[in-house]
Amino acid sequence: MAKPKVLATRPLFAAAREILNADCEVDYWTKRERISKSELFRRIKDKQGLVCLLTEKVNEELLRAAPKLRIAANVAVGYDNITVADCTRRGVAATNTPGVLDETTADFAWTLLMAVARRLGEGEQLARSGKWKGWDLDQLVGTDVWGKTLGLVGFGRIGQAGMFNAKTLSQMKPSAFLINTSRGPVVDEAALVQALKRKKIAGAALDVFEREPLIHAGLKRPNVVLAPHIASASLETRTKMACMAAQNVVALFKEQRPPNILNPEVLKAN
Ligand code: GLV
Repeated sequence: MAKPKVLATRPLFAAAREILNADCEVDYWTKRERISKSELFRRIKDKQGLVCLLTEKVNEELLRAAPKLRIAANVAVGYDNITVADCTRRGVAATNTPGVLDETTADFAWTLLMAVARRLGEGEQLARSGKWKGWDLDQLVGTDVWGKTLGLVGFGRIGQAGMFNAKTLSQMKPSAFLINTSRGPVVDEAALVQALKRKKIAGAALDVFEREPLIHAGLKRPNVVLAPHIASASLETRTKMACMAAQNVVALFKEQRPPNILNPEVLKAN
C-alpha cells in the first residue's frame, strides 16, 4: 500500500525524520529561507499530512488548497497559528506538542527575569564594547531577585490576548519587571512602552512579540531584555517537540488517536 504523503515545512531533526519516514512519504522543505505561502500551497495540494511550525497559518485558505489533508501537526505547544474550527469543519485533525517544553520554557523565563533584574544585557554590551574601565561600586547596579515576590499569570497553555494592557500595567509596582514567554499578543506593546517610559514598571524581558518578527522600536531600551522567541530552544526539547509532531501524524495514519489531538471530534466523524 502506498505510504501517505506528508509535507514538513522544515527538515525537523533526525529522530523525528526517522519516525515519519518509517510510515510516510515525506516532502521536507530544506531551504534555509522559510517556505513561501505560494510554495506551501503548491506542495500541500496532494498531501494527506502536514508538519508545520507556528509561523505557518493553517486556516480555511490553506485547507482549501489541501483537499486531501487529514492532519496538521504543529511543532509547538501554542497553536494560535491554527484555526482549529476550520480544521474541524473540514475533518482535519490538528495537534500540538504540550508537556515536553514546560521546564525548558520555565528555565528561560528565569533566564529573562535574572537578565533584566541584573542588567545582563547592558553588562554584556559594556563588556564587549571595549569601553569598560573596570569594577566600580555603583556600576550597573540592578535589583535582587531572591527574596522578592514572583507573580505568575496564565490562563492555561494559551494566554489571553490584551491581558496585559494599560490598566493592568498601571496596577503593577514601579519596581516590578514583566516577563513574557507565552505569546506576544498577551501584552499590549504600545501600553508597555508607555508604562516603561513613564517608569510605571522597572523593566521587561520579552521572548515573544505582537507582530513577530517585528519588535516595537520603543521596546529597544536598556531596561528591556529582548529574545527572538527561543524559550523552548534547547536541542533536547526541540527534538522532543518534532518527534511528538511526527508521532501524531503516524498515529493518525495508523488509524489510532493522535496523542495530542486538539479536535478529537474529527476522529468520531471518520
Ligand atoms: C513555542 O512558542 C510553542 O508554542 O511551542
